Amino acid sequence: MPNKNLNKAPSETTVLVTGGAGYIGSHTCVELLNKGYKVVIVDDLSNSKKEAVRRIKEITGVDDSQLIFYENNLLEMDVIQDIFKENEIDAIMHFAGYKAVGESVEKPLEYYVNNLMGSFVLCDCARDAGVKNLIFSSSATVYGDPAEIPITENCPKGNPTNPYGQTKSMQEQVFQDIYVGDNEWNIVLLRYFNPIGAHESGKIGEDPKGIPNNLVPYVSQVAVGKLDKIRVWGDDYDTPDGTGVRDYIHVVDLAKGHVAALEWMAKKNNGVEVFNLGTGKGSSVLEVIKAFEKACGHELAYEIKDRRPGDIATCYADATKAKKEMGWVAEFDINKMCEDSWNWQKNNPDGYR
Ligand code: WQD
Repeated sequence: MPNKNLNKAPSETTVLVTGGAGYIGSHTCVELLNKGYKVVIVDDLSNSKKEAVRRIKEITGVDDSQLIFYENNLLEMDVIQDIFKENEIDAIMHFAGYKAVGESVEKPLEYYVNNLMGSFVLCDCARDAGVKNLIFSSSATVYGDPAEIPITENCPKGNPTNPYGQTKSMQEQVFQDIYVGDNEWNIVLLRYFNPIGAHESGKIGEDPKGIPNNLVPYVSQVAVGKLDKIRVWGDDYDTPDGTGVRDYIHVVDLAKGHVAALEWMAKKNNGVEVFNLGTGKGSSVLEVIKAFEKACGHELAYEIKDRRPGDIATCYADATKAKKEMGWVAEFDINKMCEDSWNWQKNNPDGYR
């Protein structure tokens, strides 16, 4: 069956967003709806809340005719087939997946089944419906300990140090092979660096389950008084201040990068293309803490601890390909990221609960 044609107005285009109630998915739905696209979300709410879907509607002012929500897991094949029957899907943005690095080490089988099988079912149902336009939420983690810094898309994929990272790398391979088997597929792999921040309204944001593993959600909970002290995992790395350096990117910039990718792939009709979505700038842990103190207006306690196993010293993107090919550039700096993270956290101290 031939692929759907994306060369039409956003108002004529429906995007299936898997994991659309999640952190990056919800922010992307806002940007899609603001551009006039119709959105269908499928999300099992295993790491998100239905409240996020309500707030997406609140922010964008759309009604059920523009935004449809299915509370399901991708492994429910009958349901996924029905979603393609009930909606004229033109493209897929695939965010759904378990994403906690530490948890993936303890529960590898759950991660491989959920993340890989979910993609297999999704692509099988999409193909049957003639939908072969796919944007995949990948991660810089596929570079492992990167062979080059800054990291370009030509940097060889490394060996991810955890099952979560392996599932991202393996899914990329599956999508590449699907294209080789059927050249009608039109696939974009977006490799994110470190997404942080929140929509300026403060109505949606990152709402991790339990104690956050990632730096900024943890810092944010210290700032709001839910946690008492930041643990800095190592200050003996070969970096300017000894703490880990990462490419933090505002989640709204990231969301806009997905809309840019959709518009870019509408101009071509097949292939597999990789883009790094980062700012091209690295910030250390101590620099992030300083930026967050500025945002929240008070000092934040921290303690230097031993390195976290599996961490690398430095990771940041060479983001020139996305700018050159898609005209997309991250707009916001680390201060704005921390301001918007703080705005979300102080207005929602218990997240969506
Ligand atoms: C950032 C820096 C830590 C927590 C992970 C995933 C990656 C992607 C983004 C999904 C490092 C330091 C952290 C803390 C700290 N996720 N740190 N104290 O490890 O770069 O990437 O999230 O795609 O796949 O691997 O992000 O926020 O955990 O760590 O000192 O409490 O902050 O050592 O230098 P990371 P992170």
